Amino acid sequence: MPDVLRVTGGAPLTGEITVRGAKNFVSKAMVAALLGEGPSTLRNVPLIRDVDVVADLLRLHGVAVDYDDDAGVLRFDPSNVEQAHVRDIDALAGSSRIPILFCGPLLHRLGEAFIPDLGGCHIGDRPIDFHLQILRDFGAVVDKTATGIHITAPRGLRGTKAVLPYPSVGATEQTLLTAVRAEGLTELSNAATEPEIMDLIAVLQKMGAIISVDTDRTIRVEGVEKLMGYEHTSLPDRIEAASWASAALATGGDIMVRGAEQPGMTTYLNFYRKVGGTFDISDEGIRFYHPGGELKSIVLETDVHPGFMTDWQQPMVVALTQATGLSIIHETVYENRFGFTEALGRMGAQIQVYRECLGGLPCRFGQRNFNHSAVVSGPTPLRAADIVVPDLRGGFSHLIAALSAEGTSRVQGIELINRGYEHFMRKLSLLGAQVEMED
Ligand code: EPZ
Repeated sequence: MPDVLRVTGGAPLTGEITVRGAKNFVSKAMVAALLGEGPSTLRNVPLIRDVDVVADLLRLHGVAVDYDDDAGVLRFDPSNVEQAHVRDIDALAGSSRIPILFCGPLLHRLGEAFIPDLGGCHIGDRPIDFHLQILRDFGAVVDKTATGIHITAPRGLRGTKAVLPYPSVGATEQTLLTAVRAEGLTELSNAATEPEIMDLIAVLQKMGAIISVDTDRTIRVEGVEKLMGYEHTSLPDRIEAASWASAALATGGDIMVRGAEQPGMTTYLNFYRKVGGTFDISDEGIRFYHPGGELKSIVLETDVHPGFMTDWQQPMVVALTQATGLSIIHETVYENRFGFTEALGRMGAQIQVYRECLGGLPCRFGQRNFNHSAVVSGPTPLRAADIVVPDLRGGFSHLIAALSAEGTSRVQGIELINRGYEHFMRKLSLLGAQVEMED
């Protein structure tokens, strides 16, 4: 039965919500626990689907995982790591992209790994060629199976010198999780250095790893014999915080996001101010609000850290439909991250997408058939529509568009949003959104 949410727009979102740990960090820290000889504890963990998927995969491999979702605390005991049954692993196929990060830790613990075909949002091809190349550079042998990959390391794993063609977050994490126990030195050039990566490095250092990050984004790791467990509190989810901030702009609202922190959001906050939003930063969190008056159009390019995050782009585009003038957005991280604008167009937004690079940043998609630039003309009143959620961040954007629109929209595929935004429906109600599940 489709999960359809009826959303009646027109009311500003006002109130207070809490964001907990970063979705794109906690799942990786969970995989890191597999490398430790002793138990680990992870705090500030949100109740989201990626956490469940990774916990299930860890349990399949003999790791004891205890999750207190109220307290947001995960405890791991990896004393008895063992090979899992392939059919159980395959059952998790398509559920997440995180399983690919199990390769290094399982090779170190068991000498082989079976990895199911990946899932993850449809915002582009989502290849894993960088991951597989890095693993081969470490000495792994990768075989494709009918339902995923089988990977072994017949001569063990030795440190390597690699250059990423693009600063991929996942491939950087893949390298870190493999290099820390590999023999000798690993050097990764053109690495990603997002705050979530730096928090993973902090976890690995607590476990006994030796890792340095140079100013030119070269990461060096000296492999060690043994890693212990860790205790760590996750950094907050800056993508969720920015999503609610854009929602406050789009609906003319006022949202206090408890747990949000300024570090990691600097670039977002600069653009928020340029569009005409206002924010108050305190030790408890960040209050984001529309001060009244006009919103201003902007020119925006997404980039790797410390640039404007690709995951911040989609909710911000909804706010820009309410800004006066023409906004120009150049998406340089993913090739197909404007699919969500089709539904916004049906709601009355004036958005034109282009395959040209409408910006100055170097971009891999310029001379190919990807509509990865957009021009938004505003302000335009939005009206209700029937919507099918395309992906996590696009889905959140559809929700706030429906909340800004006149009338009642039917939004199908809410479960996809619940995957990455903890207690999503509860938060919408706390903010006064008029929503109800269609029976
Ligand atoms: C992580 O995805 C995040 N997901 C994404 O968030 C985020 O948008 C992305 O990093 C960029 O910051 C998680 O951490 C679970 P990439 P990841 O490897 O690691 C290309 C969300 O909504 N590439 O940095 O998969 C790739 O196609 C999600 O929370 C290859 O070509 O992203 C893309 O164009 C969406 N080959 C670019 O690199 C590879 O082997 C960036 O991808 C790997 C990546």
